[in-house]
Amino acid sequence: MPKPANSRPTIPRGDSLPQLPGFFRHLTESDFTFDNLLELFPDTTLTGRDSSRQAAYRLSASESGKRAHQLARLWLLREPLSRPDWDSLLGCDVVEQGLELGLINGTLRTHLEACFDVQPAVGDLFLTDPKFRHTWESDKHGVYYLGSDSYALAYTVPRQEIEDTLDLFSGSGIHAVLAASHSRRVVGVDINPRAVSMGYANAALNQKTNICTFLQGNLFQPVNGRKFDLITANPPFVPTPDQDLALYRSGGESGELLTAEVLEKLHLYLKPGGMLAMVTNYPVFQDRGILEHHRSLLGEPERFGIALLHSYTFPREMYIQMHLAPTGDPVKDAKDQQRWLESYHRQKIKAWVSASSFSATSLRGKPGRFEKTM
Ligand SMILES: C[S@@+](CC[C@H](N)C(=O)[O-])C[C@H]1O[C@@H](n2cnc3c(N)ncnc32)[C@H](O)[C@@H]1O
Repeated sequence: MPKPANSRPTIPRGDSLPQLPGFFRHLTESDFTFDNLLELFPDTTLTGRDSSRQAAYRLSASESGKRAHQLARLWLLREPLSRPDWDSLLGCDVVEQGLELGLINGTLRTHLEACFDVQPAVGDLFLTDPKFRHTWESDKHGVYYLGSDSYALAYTVPRQEIEDTLDLFSGSGIHAVLAASHSRRVVGVDINPRAVSMGYANAALNQKTNICTFLQGNLFQPVNGRKFDLITANPPFVPTPDQDLALYRSGGESGELLTAEVLEKLHLYLKPGGMLAMVTNYPVFQDRGILEHHRSLLGEPERFGIALLHSYTFPREMYIQMHLAPTGDPVKDAKDQQRWLESYHRQKIKAWVSASSFSATSLRGKPGRFEKTM
């Protein structure tokens, strides 16, 4: 039977954590990699897979002879399959272990299904709450799946050997866990306690537990007084007049509530020569460009250089449509869209730029500046 409203499966913790790498060995041994999964999403990529096409993705996967695609039916497409089908894909013992670990939902009468998505990125695997949700699963406190923003940041963060990394807005912990391969210590911070648990699960899955710590709290507050060589950030950035958007989306009515605070306080938390690597969305202004806008938000702007790595502009109407899922009631949908558009008018948002990555470097010792748009 469906789970009660808003319930979410418990994330593995405690003694279950060391079992995660062994349990997911079927993925690491089956080339469950980003490149290998691309064929399943011909209209988009793994990063932009679209819930309205879930049935078509499942059909392609079931037709495919590749083992990675068969496993994607379980861990990316959330296909409901019978126990004998799960057993034939994973083996009875592994399915039994998955049920015990709470990674597979065995409470549905007719089938088993995955409780989490598992996504590959930069050679590691990440457990998240599923992108393709059931109607009874609220996404307000769910942990963000890996989106195109998550991947853009993951693939552009500079990866030189450093001492201390802070991952702000850690969510699944993707950037914290990836930074653990080149940092001595990593702290992830998220306001959602469920994200803190997911961070620990992903650190365990990728055998980085001894390097990563995850703390619950608002922005920099849990690391007050500490300084870092690298700060990674994928803040919630969707401008919205609504209060009930998922924690991972809402950037307040301006969309920049959190981005602005990160930039304002950055100089307090970066070591000299340190770097912020951030992916975010920005409003388009008539009178100034993105670099100028971001420089205006930085505290002590003279200490920083800025480089914009990639950007893409969305018309605001398209942006609204992307973030307001249809409810099945066209009159309500039209009213909601109009309400969002009015809010964008109030905020003077003309269009919205998705900047795939944006980095700021505090210059070592002497003040100076570089600015570059690529
Ligand atoms: C877009 S998700 C990014 C998750 C992950 N870093 C990634 O790239 O996939 C934003 C995250 O910010 C967290 N968050 C929202 N408001 C916050 C705040 N005030 N302080 C810390 N974290 C916050 C959300 O819970 C969510 O996990």
